[in-house]
Amino acid sequence: MASLNDIRSTFLDFFARNGHEVVPSSPLVPRNDPTLMFTNSGMVQFKNLFTGVEHRDYTRATSSQKCVRAGGKHNDLDNVGYTARHHTFFEMLGNFSFGDYFKTEAIPFAWDLITKDFGIDKSRLLATVYHTDDEAFEIWKKVGVPEDRIIRIATSDNFWQMGPTGPCGPCTEIFYDHGDHIWGGPPGSPEEDGDRFIEIWNIVFMQNEQFEDGSMRELDMQSIDTGMGLERIGALLQGKHDNYDTDLMRALIEASAHATSVDPDGPKNVHHRVIADHLRSTSFLIADGVMPSNEGRGYVLRRIMRRAMRHAHLLGAADPLMHRLVPSLVSQMGQAYPELGRAQALIEETLKLEETRFRQTLDRGLRLLDDELAHLPEDAALPGEAAFKLYDTYGFPLDLTQDALREQGRSVDTDGFDAAMAEQKAKARAAWSGSGETADAAIWFDLEETNGPTEFLGYDTETAEGQIVAVVKAATEADVATKGDSVVLIMNQTPFYGESGGQVGDTGTIRTDSGVATVTDTKKVAGLFLHMAEIAQGEITKGQAAELEVDHARRSTIRANHSATHLLHEALRRALGDHVAQRGSLNAPDRLRFDFSHSKGLTEDELKRVEEEVNAFIRQNAPVETRIMTPDDARGLGAQALFGEKYGDEVRVVSMGKLAGSGKGADGQTYSLELCGGTHVKQTGDIGLFVTLGDSASSAGVRRIEALTGAAAFNHLSAQDARLGRVAAALKTQPGEVLDRVQGLMSERRSLENEVSQLRKQLAMAGGGGSSAPADKQVNGITFLAQVLEGVTGKDLPGLIDEHKARMGEGSAVLLMAEAGGKVAVAAGVSADLTDRLSAVDLLKAAVVELGGKGGGGRPDMAQGGGKDIGGADKAIAAAEDVLKGV
Ligand code: ALA
Repeated sequence: MASLNDIRSTFLDFFARNGHEVVPSSPLVPRNDPTLMFTNSGMVQFKNLFTGVEHRDYTRATSSQKCVRAGGKHNDLDNVGYTARHHTFFEMLGNFSFGDYFKTEAIPFAWDLITKDFGIDKSRLLATVYHTDDEAFEIWKKVGVPEDRIIRIATSDNFWQMGPTGPCGPCTEIFYDHGDHIWGGPPGSPEEDGDRFIEIWNIVFMQNEQFEDGSMRELDMQSIDTGMGLERIGALLQGKHDNYDTDLMRALIEASAHATSVDPDGPKNVHHRVIADHLRSTSFLIADGVMPSNEGRGYVLRRIMRRAMRHAHLLGAADPLMHRLVPSLVSQMGQAYPELGRAQALIEETLKLEETRFRQTLDRGLRLLDDELAHLPEDAALPGEAAFKLYDTYGFPLDLTQDALREQGRSVDTDGFDAAMAEQKAKARAAWSGSGETADAAIWFDLEETNGPTEFLGYDTETAEGQIVAVVKAATEADVATKGDSVVLIMNQTPFYGESGGQVGDTGTIRTDSGVATVTDTKKVAGLFLHMAEIAQGEITKGQAAELEVDHARRSTIRANHSATHLLHEALRRALGDHVAQRGSLNAPDRLRFDFSHSKGLTEDELKRVEEEVNAFIRQNAPVETRIMTPDDARGLGAQALFGEKYGDEVRVVSMGKLAGSGKGADGQTYSLELCGGTHVKQTGDIGLFVTLGDSASSAGVRRIEALTGAAAFNHLSAQDARLGRVAAALKTQPGEVLDRVQGLMSERRSLENEVSQLRKQLAMAGGGGSSAPADKQVNGITFLAQVLEGVTGKDLPGLIDEHKARMGEGSAVLLMAEAGGKVAVAAGVSADLTDRLSAVDLLKAAVVELGGKGGGGRPDMAQGGGKDIGGADKAIAAAEDVLKGV
């Protein structure tokens, strides 16, 4: 019996043989479509090839595409588990022609594959065509399908559309008749919903494009898009009527049965089926970067997870179950989808955390539900209030409650649920508007309420399509913005990071069919991302689809700086102690800044150690990992949390670096572990290089380090190097010798200075160098020398005074004045035998006044002071002589 893996290969090989490029499945989160929640068919990744916007070097392709239908236009969640053919996750096999072959080849290809390669009995096959499509009708006739088994269908069943907009066209479908022992009628008949005639392959003749306003155009080229559910064709080829009986699904059901010791085929079979399906969708979604959350895609993931977890509970599983089934899934599908194996640890951890947490409220919620139901008349719907309480307090998504009631044939009053939800929002809003935010911010709250929060895609991508849900000009909503306008654009989803947590907002470009906007900044308010933009070309209209592109180079350096900040934080903590806590940070494109609690400046040695450690972890090039968990769990793992910061019930935990022994995290080996909503490098090596610009005081008890990474760090170092090179050349030495050379020059200078000062003194003593000639005279019996000196400084004067006193002997006094740099230095001396009668200070003071100065001081035998005007020298000498005369 061919396994599902064999059937997938047979399909792809058939089309590869017929000239088709085998293209890997695209991720479940579409990057090229703003209107789609999840990839829901094989053609999604080729959407722009059909419309001619994009070209690749092949015109025929085949793929096995991962699809999720659990939200948006195609949503199968409610039925999964209870029917034979509904899945939230399935694989779609397809072949595609982009303006290459059309109907005349597509139909025979399909016919050959299923009747020859798959060997399906021709007499059991039927085809449908769109009611006006005579051409397809004739081709079916030609390949050998009898006319009475080619059915014309006039409804949208035979006109395929991916979503509200995009490429579309009439289609032809192939049906298999399971035989008259099963109830049901052929397509188009009143009994068509029975299970006897099952559609196995849809072939779409892509020839139109549908627009938002309802209009449709003919595409320039005619293309082919086909889709065949692997699970359906697998069931058929394996002789089963139920997709869940195929080998792959059966293996998962058995894994669930084994883990819970509950019979896979007994009355609880439905729970195993739900678990098998939801295990696939949740695991593949996590592998493609979706994390459980309370909005957007993350909430759909959470709804599926929790729905599965209730069924695990109904199987009596005492511990979290889902994560234990992941190895079976990986062994079944890991070869065809290697991303599954790569993400295995993350999938297991995410499922386990979610289930551990949800189990804490599941029991209580189910008891509340039972209590409520006990008070209700039989068959009555559950009041919306109660369903809302289950949602709000116990984390029961609405569809989980509906699923639980389904077994009792009851429903939920969904209007009441919506009303309770609206009331809660109104309360939140009232509380918010009282919180002191500016009045014009109310517009963002309104917009969030009408459109929901912006979904952030920028952890995984820098480009995406989004839909413009609002254009805001001067704090007022507008329908259109034209060239030159400054506006705020709100998208339903965006890769632009909104300024928060120290990381600056992204810049970039938003393009629509009619215009281009330059985004100069992005901010976050009330769940909305505000793209601050200038319209650079044409016009931009509310409702348009747009291509969003973040400035890649700028974002890359911001990312490197942010990751380096985490490494710096940990390195500081290890170098300085556990008291180091983040007090603020800035992650800008050109540099990073980190403020932290520490009372004194870092020594050169500490700074060097920190810098070296950060660079060692950069060179380690370890992957940077992200997890979602509760703040408590995160702290339990040793995560650094911001002091005083409020966290919701979930946080992102970013970890990087491996450290044997004394690390953090579940493995005790993680170097840095922080709660963080920012964007980061994939591997620490992407940071390149880290250089600090030194530390400084930011405020009392808070130090600040500024640093550079990557090219900026390199440029900084090479500029420093170049400067050092120039210095070395000027010093006529090598860069490595500069320090020795400068120290040598400085000591040489010191000895030269000494020598000069000695020479000056000698010169002054001898009356040379332009100084007035020394001439001792007798005043009132005291030998007195008064002299104006040149070429000496104030520092030389005391030495000269001493020398003169020694020369002149007892009963002598000296007054020396020297002009230097516009100032006059003055010194006076008195021989020791006179100091009880005459003070050098008095002598000095009398002279200084005449030189335009004030004061001065010293001891009775030696005093110093300063003046401004050497022109008063004669008067100063006369004043000094007057002092002597008065002794
Ligand atoms: N895109 C088509 C479908 O999903 C083939 O059915």
